[in-house]
Amino acid sequence: MNNWPRSVSPPYVVNIEDLRRKAERRLPRAVFDYVDGGAEAEKTMRENTRAFETLTFRPRNAVAVPQCDLRVNILGAELSFPAILAPVGYSRMIHPAGECAASSAAGKAGTAYILSTIAGYKLEDVRAASSGPIWYQLYMIGGRPAAEAALERAMAAGYSALFVTIDTGMIGNRERDTRNGIGQLMGGNWMGMIPYLSQFFSRPGWVASYLMDGGLHKLPNVIVPGKGPMSLMDVSDALSDSAVTWRDFQWLREVWPGPIVAKGVLTGDDARRAIDAGAAGVVVSNHGGRQLDGVSATLRALPEIVKAVNGQIEVLMDGGVRRGADIVKAICMGARAVLVGRAYAYGLAAAGETGAARAIEILRTDMERTMKLLGCSCIGELDRTYVDVPRDWPGAS
Ligand SMILES: Cc1cc2nc3c(=O)[nH]c(=O)nc-3n(C[C@H](O)[C@H](O)[C@H](O)COP(=O)(O)O)c2cc1C
Repeated sequence: MNNWPRSVSPPYVVNIEDLRRKAERRLPRAVFDYVDGGAEAEKTMRENTRAFETLTFRPRNAVAVPQCDLRVNILGAELSFPAILAPVGYSRMIHPAGECAASSAAGKAGTAYILSTIAGYKLEDVRAASSGPIWYQLYMIGGRPAAEAALERAMAAGYSALFVTIDTGMIGNRERDTRNGIGQLMGGNWMGMIPYLSQFFSRPGWVASYLMDGGLHKLPNVIVPGKGPMSLMDVSDALSDSAVTWRDFQWLREVWPGPIVAKGVLTGDDARRAIDAGAAGVVVSNHGGRQLDGVSATLRALPEIVKAVNGQIEVLMDGGVRRGADIVKAICMGARAVLVGRAYAYGLAAAGETGAARAIEILRTDMERTMKLLGCSCIGELDRTYVDVPRDWPGAS
């Protein structure tokens, strides 16, 4: 059953944490921390994973489950299992094959890939790399004209849903990035870079592949009229200049005919606003703990949003998913599917497309095993009766 290269096979890689360790060994500190880190004290980031650990299962034993049906229909697309690859900005820095490798891995596994606005490859190339559904994530950097041009291209290329990230009015305070000199390293001023260069000496493999790929590329999907492609260095200011508002949703509905999903909803109120704004879905997300530190773990926030939405639109969630059992727990708590970010990004860093594919397979096989051990043959049957929710969680009863 196992045709994986040795480097990503057992006993070397058994779970996502093993891929994380491999990523840490391959990436320079600044790049690893860009993926692995969160905002400020990283409290929310830790809480995301801890919430999954806190929730416990209530299995139904002495039940035969020879087969498990993991398929799910999300935004009109049939997925082989309810885990979607989340938008991970500038994946091309994590691995030279970046977004193309990740979308290809998703397609081969029968699931969807969401391409970040902050991508290193043209959206048409990322579409062509995958045999599965591809969705586009929008930041309004460069303003409406740049966004409209990208959306027209995305539509023509076959992107079938739009995820509008609403939690990034400015970039969160990621202290690891500041310490590692990310700003200086991207700034292009050699004198400014010098204090931070030593972290690259111990990672010659990454440095060689990065240089062979041509170094830092401009953003081929953010074309600012009169200026051309935006550079990565300008993204931070551009995000602050162009925060998405609910009013933009009205405009987006005119320029994007497909489903629109609000990514970054953490309260019932915002979920209702998303419905009023015409969204077809929400992602309960705190951006993997990378934006406002001190917000609730997404698994804890989920029930309030599920209740507010009351079946009117699709509810997805992300943050802290590292095991198939976590996906099962999210579905028991009312999510239709999860997005995974770091889980596949670690795989991509460790071994390119093979690593991303291995991450997906780990989650999938974990999930199937968990369902069988729970005594549940179909994800449509998963509900709160399969978990014990801690008493102090909002809406626990
Ligand atoms: C390195 C990295 C870059 C990210 N870039 C984006 C992005 O460009 N757009 C976006 O909407 N979310 C972005 N996210 C957030 C993810 O889409 C997702 O919400 C988050 O990773 C989920 O948490 P998890 O990493 O614990 O799975 C990024 C996350 C990481 C780790």
